[in-house]
Amino acid sequence: MKFGVFLPNGSNGYLITKAIPPYLPTWELNRDVTLEAERQGLDFVLSMMKFRGFGGETGFWDACMESFTLMASLAAVTDRIGLVPTTTILALHPAYVARMMATLDDVSDGRAALNIVTGWNKPEYKQMGLWRGDAYYEQRYEYALEYVQILRALWREGRVTHKSPFFDLEDCSCLPTPEHEIPIISAGQSNAGRRFVAQVGGHNFVMAPPERVHALAADLDSLGAETGQDVATYALLHLVAEETDAKAEQVCADIVAGGDIGAIQTMIASAQLDTVEDGTTEQLRRSGAQELLGGDAEEANMAFMGIPAIVGSYETVARKIDALATDPNVAGILFSWPDWVSGIRRFGERVIPLLECRRGWDPERDGGLRGAGRRPA
Ligand SMILES: Cc1cc2nc3c(=O)[nH]c(=O)nc-3n(C[C@H](O)[C@H](O)[C@H](O)COP(=O)(O)O)c2cc1C
Repeated sequence: MKFGVFLPNGSNGYLITKAIPPYLPTWELNRDVTLEAERQGLDFVLSMMKFRGFGGETGFWDACMESFTLMASLAAVTDRIGLVPTTTILALHPAYVARMMATLDDVSDGRAALNIVTGWNKPEYKQMGLWRGDAYYEQRYEYALEYVQILRALWREGRVTHKSPFFDLEDCSCLPTPEHEIPIISAGQSNAGRRFVAQVGGHNFVMAPPERVHALAADLDSLGAETGQDVATYALLHLVAEETDAKAEQVCADIVAGGDIGAIQTMIASAQLDTVEDGTTEQLRRSGAQELLGGDAEEANMAFMGIPAIVGSYETVARKIDALATDPNVAGILFSWPDWVSGIRRFGERVIPLLECRRGWDPERDGGLRGAGRRPA
């Protein structure tokens, strides 16, 4: 069971709350989080990319450090941990990203994987003149598929000709090619998003409570069996672990009580523009239709950005993680912490030693994102 850190490279991390004083994403914070994760034997760090925040009293995600430059700098100060930058495919041409990944592959000596983000939030791209029109909502994984085909051709051959309504590359050259295979990650949760992962092969990160994670993982496994691709599912979860269940529940209650309604409403308003009906934005829209901060934190509460939380004492959270890990289709968990460095340290020192699913784990041998799938390619 692999463990990753969803890096806080956007302001206030992944909690839309006034319970934690607002903070800016800095190099110092992201470096310290990554070094602590490496020290505690965690397997990878993933940075996201958002070009427009959701404001509110906390200025949620109004600032966001650029993902590739951050990961390259982290590669230079770490030795072992896997590194995952995010490409926002509407903003970055694949020939440019192919080259950045070849560079990161070299700097990190083969520790890099790539998160493909199609973009669901029109205002983010419209402000830069990069929105392709509202038809893009439904076309986004067709666009992503061609994008990955171009990346892989460039990584393999160092050149490509690819002509389509989306792209026009004529004997495009891109050298050096990377020395190592670059795993592909996508957090598409809609049917089209998961079909895309099954087509290209790779790791699907989903934002759902455990029972739904099991269902999505089983479905992806069947899709992968149809396409013959190596696929795996990862759960995105908050971790709120304290000495006692009561203390952890109090931390959650404070986060919910401090929910930043203005920022949450702006996020939901953006999600309401998306015409795709079976993805993550549908979950956000559903939250908007209910009492805004009424959801159970372990299922989906908007103060937690709708990301389910694992809550409890160190023993309780270990039990819950082991329960999720019994599913052979769930290859790992990407965590967010309310208190980054100390949370990761306590996870490493107090929770990991209790976990059945990490017995015999060797971060050197088992870390990173290579080989996390369930079937050979
Ligand atoms: C782990 C994780 C990382 C994500 N990173 C980003 C990101 O950096 N930028 C972004 O705009 N969306 C990001 N998303 C959103 C997804 O890429 C995707 O657009 C969303 O889940 C909607 O899925 P769908 O397109 O299948 O409906 C992320 C989601 C998850 C679960």
